[in-house]
Amino acid sequence: MRVADYIEKLKPYEGGKPIEELKRELGIEGDIIKLASNENPLGPSEKAVDAIREIADKVNFYPDGDAYYLKEKLAKKLGVSRDNLIFGNGSDELIELIYRTFATDTNDEIVYCYPTFIEYKIIGMAFNKRLVELPLKDFAYDIDAIIDAVNPKTRIVFLNTPNNPTGTAIKRKDLERVIEGVSDDVLVVIDEAYYEYAKAEDDYDEILDLYKKGNVIVLRTFSKAYGLAGLRIGYGIASKEIVDYLNRTRPPFNVNIVAQHAALAALDDDEHIKNTVENNQKGKEYLYSEFEKLGLKYIKTYANFILFDVGDDADRIYNELLKKGVIVRSMSGYGYKTFLRVSIGTPHENEVFITKLKEILNV
Ligand SMILES: Cc1ncc(COP(=O)(O)O)c(C=O)c1O
Repeated sequence: MRVADYIEKLKPYEGGKPIEELKRELGIEGDIIKLASNENPLGPSEKAVDAIREIADKVNFYPDGDAYYLKEKLAKKLGVSRDNLIFGNGSDELIELIYRTFATDTNDEIVYCYPTFIEYKIIGMAFNKRLVELPLKDFAYDIDAIIDAVNPKTRIVFLNTPNNPTGTAIKRKDLERVIEGVSDDVLVVIDEAYYEYAKAEDDYDEILDLYKKGNVIVLRTFSKAYGLAGLRIGYGIASKEIVDYLNRTRPPFNVNIVAQHAALAALDDDEHIKNTVENNQKGKEYLYSEFEKLGLKYIKTYANFILFDVGDDADRIYNELLKKGVIVRSMSGYGYKTFLRVSIGTPHENEVFITKLKEILNV
Protein backbone atom coordinates (compact mmCIF):
# COMPACT_ATOMS: atom_id res chain seq x y z
CA MET A 1 0.00 0.00 0.00
CA ARG A 2 1.33 3.44 -0.89
CA VAL A 3 1.21 6.08 1.81
CA ALA A 4 2.80 9.51 2.14
CA ASP A 5 6.28 9.63 3.66
CA TYR A 6 5.06 11.44 6.73
CA ILE A 7 2.54 8.64 7.43
CA GLU A 8 5.26 6.02 6.86
CA LYS A 9 7.36 7.71 9.55
CA LEU A 10 4.61 7.77 12.17
CA LYS A 11 4.81 5.54 15.21
CA PRO A 12 1.47 4.77 16.85
CA TYR A 13 0.86 6.18 20.34
CA GLU A 14 2.02 3.82 23.05
CA GLY A 15 -0.09 4.07 26.17
CA GLY A 16 0.52 2.59 29.59
CA LYS A 17 0.56 -1.19 29.40
CA PRO A 18 -2.93 -2.61 30.09
CA ILE A 19 -3.17 -5.03 33.04
CA GLU A 20 -4.56 -7.83 30.85
CA GLU A 21 -1.63 -7.50 28.42
CA LEU A 22 0.90 -7.88 31.22
CA LYS A 23 -0.95 -10.97 32.49
CA ARG A 24 -0.85 -12.49 28.99
CA GLU A 25 2.79 -11.62 28.32
CA LEU A 26 4.36 -12.62 31.61
CA GLY A 27 1.82 -15.17 32.77
CA ILE A 28 1.53 -13.27 36.05
CA GLU A 29 -1.27 -14.39 38.31
CA GLY A 30 -2.55 -12.35 41.21
CA ASP A 31 -2.59 -8.63 41.75
CA ILE A 32 -1.22 -6.32 39.14
CA ILE A 33 -0.99 -2.64 39.90
CA LYS A 34 -1.24 -0.11 37.11
CA LEU A 35 0.19 3.30 37.89
CA ALA A 36 0.93 4.18 34.30
CA SER A 37 -1.87 6.24 32.76
CA ASN A 38 -2.84 8.79 35.41
CA GLU A 39 -6.25 7.19 35.88
CA ASN A 40 -8.37 7.72 38.98
CA PRO A 41 -7.41 4.93 41.42
CA LEU A 42 -10.72 5.30 43.28
CA GLY A 43 -12.66 4.48 40.11
CA PRO A 44 -15.61 6.43 38.71
CA SER A 45 -18.27 8.12 40.82
CA GLU A 46 -21.09 5.78 41.93
CA LYS A 47 -23.49 8.33 40.50
CA ALA A 48 -21.83 7.98 37.10
CA VAL A 49 -22.01 4.19 37.31
CA ASP A 50 -25.75 4.37 38.07
CA ALA A 51 -26.24 6.72 35.11
CA ILE A 52 -24.42 4.25 32.85
CA ARG A 53 -26.75 1.46 33.98
CA GLU A 54 -29.79 3.66 33.39
CA ILE A 55 -28.79 4.58 29.85
CA ALA A 56 -27.70 1.06 28.85
CA ASP A 57 -31.03 0.11 27.26
CA LYS A 58 -31.22 3.35 25.27
CA VAL A 59 -28.07 2.95 23.23
CA ASN A 60 -30.18 2.21 20.16
CA PHE A 61 -30.57 6.02 19.98
CA TYR A 62 -27.94 8.34 18.62
CA PRO A 63 -26.48 10.68 21.20
CA ASP A 64 -27.45 14.35 21.29
CA GLY A 65 -24.81 15.83 18.99
CA ASP A 66 -25.08 19.15 20.82
CA ALA A 67 -24.86 17.56 24.31
CA TYR A 68 -27.64 19.91 25.43
CA TYR A 69 -28.01 18.92 29.10
CA LEU A 70 -24.32 18.42 29.70
CA LYS A 71 -23.54 21.80 28.17
CA GLU A 72 -26.20 23.41 30.33
CA LYS A 73 -24.85 21.92 33.56
CA LEU A 74 -21.17 22.44 32.81
CA ALA A 75 -21.73 26.03 31.65
CA LYS A 76 -23.38 26.80 35.00
CA LYS A 77 -20.66 25.10 36.98
CA LEU A 78 -17.88 26.95 35.16
CA GLY A 79 -19.70 30.28 34.92
CA VAL A 80 -19.44 30.40 31.12
CA SER A 81 -22.05 30.50 28.38
CA ARG A 82 -23.06 27.25 26.64
CA ASP A 83 -21.72 28.83 23.43
CA ASN A 84 -18.25 28.73 24.96
CA LEU A 85 -18.22 24.93 25.30
CA ILE A 86 -17.31 22.11 22.97
CA PHE A 87 -17.08 18.40 23.83
CA GLY A 88 -14.76 15.83 22.35
CA ASN A 89 -14.26 12.07 22.34
CA GLY A 90 -11.64 12.69 24.99
CA SER A 91 -9.66 15.91 24.91
CA ASP A 92 -7.48 13.97 22.45
CA GLU A 93 -10.16 14.46 19.83
CA LEU A 94 -10.29 18.19 20.54
CA ILE A 95 -6.54 18.41 19.88
CA GLU A 96 -7.18 16.75 16.55
CA LEU A 97 -10.09 19.08 15.76
CA ILE A 98 -7.90 22.06 16.63
CA TYR A 99 -5.30 20.92 14.10
CA ARG A 100 -7.95 20.14 11.51
CA THR A 101 -9.62 23.52 11.90
CA PHE A 102 -6.80 25.97 12.55
CA ALA A 103 -3.66 24.51 10.93
CA THR A 104 -4.77 23.89 7.38
CA ASP A 105 -1.75 25.00 5.37
CA THR A 106 1.31 22.79 4.76
CA ASN A 107 3.66 25.50 6.01
CA ASP A 108 1.83 26.07 9.26
CA GLU A 109 3.99 25.82 12.36
CA ILE A 110 3.03 24.49 15.75
CA VAL A 111 5.01 25.41 18.87
CA TYR A 112 5.32 23.53 22.16
CA CYS A 113 7.94 22.50 24.68
CA TYR A 114 9.02 18.88 24.97
CA PRO A 115 8.64 16.52 26.85
CA THR A 116 4.95 17.23 27.05
CA PHE A 117 1.75 15.39 26.22
CA ILE A 118 2.87 13.37 23.22
CA GLU A 119 -0.39 13.77 21.29
CA TYR A 120 0.46 17.37 20.31
CA LYS A 121 3.35 15.82 18.42
CA ILE A 122 1.73 12.65 17.08
CA ILE A 123 -1.36 14.45 15.78
CA GLY A 124 0.84 17.21 14.34
CA MET A 125 2.85 14.58 12.47
CA ALA A 126 -0.33 12.92 11.23
CA PHE A 127 -1.36 16.29 9.76
CA ASN A 128 2.14 16.79 8.32
CA LYS A 129 2.71 20.07 10.17
CA ARG A 130 5.99 21.75 10.99
CA LEU A 131 6.55 21.07 14.64
CA VAL A 132 8.72 23.54 16.51
CA GLU A 133 9.73 21.56 19.54
CA LEU A 134 11.58 23.48 22.24
CA PRO A 135 13.29 21.86 25.22
CA LEU A 136 11.79 22.29 28.66
CA LYS A 137 13.90 24.38 31.02
CA ASP A 138 14.32 22.87 34.49
CA PHE A 139 11.45 20.50 33.63
CA ALA A 140 9.09 23.42 32.94
CA TYR A 141 7.80 25.27 29.88
CA ASP A 142 10.31 27.84 28.63
CA ILE A 143 8.12 30.90 28.06
CA ASP A 144 10.82 33.15 26.56
CA ALA A 145 11.81 30.45 24.07
CA ILE A 146 8.16 30.00 23.07
CA ILE A 147 7.64 33.70 22.46
CA ASP A 148 10.88 33.85 20.45
CA ALA A 149 9.87 30.84 18.35
CA VAL A 150 6.51 32.27 17.30
CA ASN A 151 6.57 33.81 13.83
CA PRO A 152 4.01 34.63 11.12
CA LYS A 153 3.77 30.96 10.15
CA THR A 154 2.81 29.88 13.67
CA ARG A 155 -0.81 28.78 13.95
CA ILE A 156 -1.01 27.00 17.30
CA VAL A 157 0.92 27.11 20.59
CA PHE A 158 0.33 24.25 23.00
CA LEU A 159 0.81 24.93 26.72
CA ASN A 160 0.22 22.09 29.14
CA THR A 161 -0.34 22.97 32.78
CA PRO A 162 0.30 20.90 34.82
CA ASN A 163 2.60 19.41 32.23
CA ASN A 164 2.52 15.69 31.52
CA PRO A 165 5.04 14.06 32.24
CA THR A 166 6.83 16.56 34.52
CA GLY A 167 3.89 17.70 36.68
CA THR A 168 5.10 21.32 36.59
CA ALA A 169 2.60 24.20 36.39
CA ILE A 170 2.73 27.37 34.31
CA LYS A 171 2.08 30.62 36.16
CA ARG A 172 -0.82 32.75 35.00
CA LYS A 173 1.46 35.69 34.25
CA ASP A 174 3.50 33.46 31.94
CA LEU A 175 0.40 32.27 30.10
CA GLU A 176 -0.57 35.92 29.72
CA ARG A 177 2.87 36.74 28.36
CA VAL A 178 2.44 34.11 25.65
CA ILE A 179 -1.08 35.26 24.78
CA GLU A 180 0.05 38.87 24.61
CA GLY A 181 3.25 37.95 22.80
CA VAL A 182 1.54 36.31 19.82
CA SER A 183 -0.74 37.74 17.17
CA ASP A 184 -4.50 37.38 17.56
CA ASP A 185 -4.70 34.66 14.94
CA VAL A 186 -2.36 32.26 16.71
CA LEU A 187 -4.47 29.86 18.76
CA VAL A 188 -3.10 29.37 22.27
CA VAL A 189 -4.17 26.00 23.67
CA ILE A 190 -3.98 25.69 27.44
CA ASP A 191 -4.36 22.01 28.27
CA GLU A 192 -5.51 21.67 31.89
CA ALA A 193 -6.29 17.93 31.88
CA TYR A 194 -5.19 17.70 35.53
CA TYR A 195 -6.94 20.86 36.71
CA GLU A 196 -8.93 19.30 39.58
CA TYR A 197 -5.71 17.96 41.10
CA ALA A 198 -3.70 21.12 40.49
CA LYS A 199 -6.33 23.26 42.17
CA ALA A 200 -5.51 21.59 45.50
CA GLU A 201 -2.05 23.17 45.51
CA ASP A 202 -2.08 26.67 47.07
CA ASP A 203 0.15 28.21 44.46
CA TYR A 204 -1.70 26.96 41.37
CA ASP A 205 -3.20 29.90 39.46
CA GLU A 206 -6.78 29.89 38.19
CA ILE A 207 -6.66 30.62 34.47
CA LEU A 208 -10.02 29.64 32.99
CA ASP A 209 -11.08 33.24 32.29
CA LEU A 210 -8.16 33.58 29.85
CA TYR A 211 -10.47 32.00 27.25
CA LYS A 212 -12.04 35.49 27.03
CA LYS A 213 -8.93 36.74 25.24
CA GLY A 214 -10.44 35.37 22.03
CA ASN A 215 -7.49 33.35 20.72
CA VAL A 216 -7.35 30.89 23.63
CA ILE A 217 -8.92 27.49 24.22
CA VAL A 218 -8.70 25.78 27.61
CA LEU A 219 -8.93 21.98 27.47
CA ARG A 220 -10.14 19.84 30.35
CA THR A 221 -11.31 16.25 30.63
CA PHE A 222 -13.49 13.76 32.48
CA SER A 223 -10.71 11.16 32.09
CA LYS A 224 -8.57 12.08 35.07
CA ALA A 225 -10.08 13.20 38.40
CA TYR A 226 -13.61 12.32 37.21
CA GLY A 227 -12.48 8.75 36.55
CA LEU A 228 -14.21 8.30 33.18
CA ALA A 229 -11.17 7.67 30.96
CA GLY A 230 -12.75 4.56 29.41
CA LEU A 231 -15.77 6.50 28.17
CA ARG A 232 -13.77 9.16 26.30
CA ILE A 233 -15.10 12.62 27.03
CA GLY A 234 -13.26 15.91 27.34
CA TYR A 235 -14.17 19.54 26.72
CA GLY A 236 -12.87 22.86 25.58
CA ILE A 237 -13.74 26.38 26.76
CA ALA A 238 -13.20 29.10 24.17
CA SER A 239 -14.77 32.13 22.51
CA LYS A 240 -18.01 31.53 20.61
CA GLU A 241 -16.08 32.14 17.39
CA ILE A 242 -13.53 29.39 18.07
CA VAL A 243 -16.24 26.97 19.20
CA ASP A 244 -18.24 27.71 16.03
CA TYR A 245 -15.26 26.92 13.81
CA LEU A 246 -14.47 23.71 15.70
CA ASN A 247 -18.09 22.61 15.35
CA ARG A 248 -17.72 22.80 11.58
CA THR A 249 -15.08 20.04 11.53
CA ARG A 250 -16.45 18.02 14.44
CA PRO A 251 -18.10 14.68 13.61
CA PRO A 252 -21.81 15.07 14.46
CA PHE A 253 -22.03 12.34 17.13
CA ASN A 254 -18.49 12.45 18.47
CA VAL A 255 -19.41 12.00 22.14
CA ASN A 256 -21.43 8.86 22.79
CA ILE A 257 -24.66 8.73 24.75
CA VAL A 258 -23.19 6.74 27.67
CA ALA A 259 -20.33 9.19 28.14
CA GLN A 260 -22.70 12.16 28.11
CA HIS A 261 -24.96 10.64 30.77
CA ALA A 262 -22.10 9.51 32.96
CA ALA A 263 -20.43 12.93 32.79
CA LEU A 264 -23.70 14.64 33.65
CA ALA A 265 -24.03 12.50 36.78
CA ALA A 266 -20.34 12.84 37.66
CA LEU A 267 -20.72 16.62 37.76
CA ASP A 268 -23.19 16.14 40.63
CA ASP A 269 -20.71 14.19 42.71
CA ASP A 270 -18.49 16.79 44.36
CA GLU A 271 -17.82 14.35 47.19
CA HIS A 272 -16.14 11.93 44.79
CA ILE A 273 -13.85 14.66 43.44
CA LYS A 274 -13.06 15.74 47.00
CA ASN A 275 -12.11 12.17 48.02
CA THR A 276 -10.12 11.74 44.82
CA VAL A 277 -8.11 14.89 45.41
CA GLU A 278 -7.57 14.09 49.10
CA ASN A 279 -6.31 10.62 48.21
CA ASN A 280 -3.97 12.21 45.70
CA GLN A 281 -2.58 14.75 48.16
CA LYS A 282 -1.93 12.04 50.76
CA GLY A 283 -0.38 9.72 48.19
CA LYS A 284 1.82 12.53 46.95
CA GLU A 285 3.15 13.25 50.46
CA TYR A 286 3.79 9.54 51.03
CA LEU A 287 5.65 9.08 47.75
CA TYR A 288 7.67 12.29 48.24
CA SER A 289 8.80 11.10 51.66
CA GLU A 290 9.68 7.61 50.40
CA PHE A 291 11.67 9.06 47.48
CA GLU A 292 13.50 11.32 49.93
CA LYS A 293 14.35 8.35 52.16
CA LEU A 294 15.67 6.54 49.10
CA GLY A 295 17.66 9.59 48.02
CA LEU A 296 15.80 9.74 44.71
CA LYS A 297 15.26 13.12 43.06
CA TYR A 298 11.65 13.93 42.11
CA ILE A 299 9.90 16.89 40.54
CA LYS A 300 7.20 18.64 42.61
CA THR A 301 3.90 17.75 40.95
CA TYR A 302 0.62 19.62 40.52
CA ALA A 303 -1.01 16.53 39.03
CA ASN A 304 -1.69 12.89 39.90
CA PHE A 305 1.67 11.55 38.78
CA ILE A 306 5.29 12.09 39.78
CA LEU A 307 8.36 12.19 37.59
CA PHE A 308 11.35 10.84 39.48
CA ASP A 309 14.95 9.90 38.81
CA VAL A 310 15.78 6.27 39.67
CA GLY A 311 19.47 6.98 39.09
CA ASP A 312 19.70 3.88 36.91
CA ASP A 313 18.59 2.74 33.46
CA ALA A 314 14.88 3.63 33.46
CA ASP A 315 13.93 0.87 30.99
CA ARG A 316 15.64 -1.75 33.13
CA ILE A 317 13.85 -0.66 36.31
CA TYR A 318 10.57 -0.38 34.40
CA ASN A 319 10.93 -3.98 33.17
CA GLU A 320 11.90 -5.25 36.62
CA LEU A 321 8.80 -3.57 38.06
CA LEU A 322 6.67 -5.20 35.36
CA LYS A 323 7.97 -8.62 36.38
CA LYS A 324 6.82 -7.82 39.91
CA GLY A 325 3.36 -6.83 38.68
CA VAL A 326 3.73 -3.05 38.87
CA ILE A 327 3.18 -1.01 35.71
CA VAL A 328 4.65 2.51 35.61
CA ARG A 329 6.07 4.48 32.65
CA SER A 330 9.68 4.67 31.56
CA MET A 331 10.58 8.14 30.35
CA SER A 332 13.60 7.01 28.33
CA GLY A 333 11.69 7.53 25.07
CA TYR A 334 11.33 11.19 26.04
CA GLY A 335 15.08 11.53 26.53
CA TYR A 336 14.91 11.17 30.33
CA LYS A 337 17.02 8.02 30.38
CA THR A 338 16.95 7.53 34.16
CA PHE A 339 13.44 8.77 34.90
CA LEU A 340 10.18 6.99 35.57
CA ARG A 341 6.71 8.48 35.85
CA VAL A 342 4.41 6.94 38.42
CA SER A 343 0.72 7.74 38.80
CA ILE A 344 -0.40 8.28 42.38
CA GLY A 345 -2.57 5.33 43.43
CA THR A 346 -4.47 4.19 46.49
CA PRO A 347 -2.43 3.93 49.72
CA HIS A 348 -2.12 0.16 49.10
CA GLU A 349 -0.96 0.61 45.49
CA ASN A 350 1.58 3.26 46.49
CA GLU A 351 3.00 1.01 49.20
CA VAL A 352 3.28 -2.00 46.90
CA PHE A 353 5.03 0.17 44.32
CA ILE A 354 7.55 1.44 46.90
CA THR A 355 8.15 -2.07 48.29
CA LYS A 356 8.86 -3.49 44.83
CA LEU A 357 11.03 -0.52 43.91
CA LYS A 358 13.10 -1.03 47.07
CA GLU A 359 13.53 -4.73 46.26
CA ILE A 360 14.84 -3.82 42.80
CA LEU A 361 17.15 -1.08 44.10
CA ASN A 362 18.38 -3.45 46.85
CA VAL A 363 17.67 -1.05 49.70
C1 LIG B 1 -1.98 16.65 29.25
C2 LIG B 1 -3.01 15.73 28.70
N1 LIG B 1 -3.92 16.21 27.86
C3 LIG B 1 -4.86 15.42 27.34
C4 LIG B 1 -4.92 14.09 27.67
C5 LIG B 1 -5.97 13.25 27.00
O1 LIG B 1 -7.03 13.07 27.79
P1 LIG B 1 -8.38 12.45 27.23
O2 LIG B 1 -8.53 11.15 27.90
O3 LIG B 1 -9.43 13.46 27.62
O4 LIG B 1 -8.26 12.31 25.75
C6 LIG B 1 -4.00 13.54 28.55
C7 LIG B 1 -4.04 12.10 28.88
O5 LIG B 1 -3.12 11.51 29.34
C8 LIG B 1 -3.01 14.39 29.07
O6 LIG B 1 -2.08 13.93 29.91
